[in-house]
Amino acid sequence: MKKIIKNGTIVTATDTYTADVLIENDKVQAIGQNISDIYAEVIDASGCYVMPGGIDPHTHMDMPFGGTVTSDDFETGSIAAAHGGTTTFIDFCLTEKGKSLKSALKKWHAKSKDKAAIDYAFHLQIVEANENILHELPEVIEKEGVTSFKVFMAYKDVLQADDETLFQTLITAREHGGLVMVHAENGDVINYLTEKALEEGRTEPINHALTRPPELEGEATGRAAKLTALADSQLYVVHVTCKEAVEQIAAARSKGFRVYGETCPQYLVLDQSYLEKPGFEGAKYVWSPPLRDRSNQEILWNALKSGELQTIGSDHCSFNFKGQKELGKGDFSKIPNGGPFVEDRFSILFSEGVKKGRISLNEFVNLVSTNAAKLFGLFPQKGTIAPGSDADIVLFDPNVERTISVNTHHMNVDYSALEGMQVTGEPVTVLSRGEYVIKNKHFVGAPGKGKYLKCSKFNHHTAAEAKKAEDLVK
Ligand code: URP
Ligand code: ZN
Ligand code: ZN
Repeated sequence: MKKIIKNGTIVTATDTYTADVLIENDKVQAIGQNISDIYAEVIDASGCYVMPGGIDPHTHMDMPFGGTVTSDDFETGSIAAAHGGTTTFIDFCLTEKGKSLKSALKKWHAKSKDKAAIDYAFHLQIVEANENILHELPEVIEKEGVTSFKVFMAYKDVLQADDETLFQTLITAREHGGLVMVHAENGDVINYLTEKALEEGRTEPINHALTRPPELEGEATGRAAKLTALADSQLYVVHVTCKEAVEQIAAARSKGFRVYGETCPQYLVLDQSYLEKPGFEGAKYVWSPPLRDRSNQEILWNALKSGELQTIGSDHCSFNFKGQKELGKGDFSKIPNGGPFVEDRFSILFSEGVKKGRISLNEFVNLVSTNAAKLFGLFPQKGTIAPGSDADIVLFDPNVERTISVNTHHMNVDYSALEGMQVTGEPVTVLSRGEYVIKNKHFVGAPGKGKYLKCSKFNHHTAAEAKKAEDLVK
């Protein structure tokens, strides 16, 4: 099976140029001028950018949370992701206290097997760091290809771990080549503020944001960064939303610590006022950390541009408004936390970022694909277009204008948090390992075709190189 992509503009994290791409079976075979092969199918990419498939480092498919289960599973979520230009996603595998890491992974493999239409990998939650877990962790890295470990500093009595667990995970990760991820909010103080709000009869969705102020995200981010420095380890802060957290990451990085950060499209385009929509509609915008004051958006864009934040994750965690978000009517603390963004991550970043002059085309590719591949041990198999890389390629029309809506999206959820938003640019055709998943905007792939990816160990060198490359481009 051979394909040649012609007439497009190739865009990677470092280069923009015109050339043909020859694909043979699942790999990019060659890039050059006037490639011809009578056995190859020619794909005309006129007017399109030819980009590496997006890598979404943050999804929650088929995940039990908030008294219910996310509405997208590995099938519906991965098909929606593909429509949006994503060809790889990394999902969070939840663990249970008293149970082995391997039993959790077995559960997540069962959820995803024969379902995903694109490739995927797992991060693994660490909720306790007892002797058994610390013993199992290196084996999980070596044998299961899971090299990133998530510690929740919030969601008290549900997912939250203590600082000892975080510190021991950091030390073990350093010794064995893992990358520790944190949900950085101070869960104990949030718990106190939530109970107080409910006692005072403040039950509407806006109180979700008011009981989780940015100071608590900044405090937890700084604490995690300092513990990382003490452990001489590496940290990735998920869903960064505000000035307070960006400042902590920037301070750690300026001292040379291996601290990385992700933000999400929702924090770049929405703000706290959405939680005040009338008639419980604010519940559609309840996720954690919460939406912030609009002034934070420019701070996040600047951090993406300057390289203080390296990736864009969707934090896709979809719950229907009817029957799921409604669980929190009369008590904001019972609204399942999460929003649907896996399909729009790529387009929002392009439309709001590149088209509005906030980031360059190459920075866009870095943020939406390459940096995640480097941080999570998938590069250069994923995250670039180069001979030998997987042929995960998006033909992206940068000029088409469209309106995001629940009526046209492919996510299995009954609302869009971006309803009515005008964006420029859309993935037209998406290849996963050389095969069409999306052809002329239609899904032509199949559930189960996506492969589980084993991630390589965290590589200081690669991460440092990525930073150096970013600096050179600037
Ligand atoms: O509200 C959110 N973000 N839900 C998903 C779980 C998490 O905290 O990432
Ligand atoms: Zn989180
Ligand atoms: Zn999340």
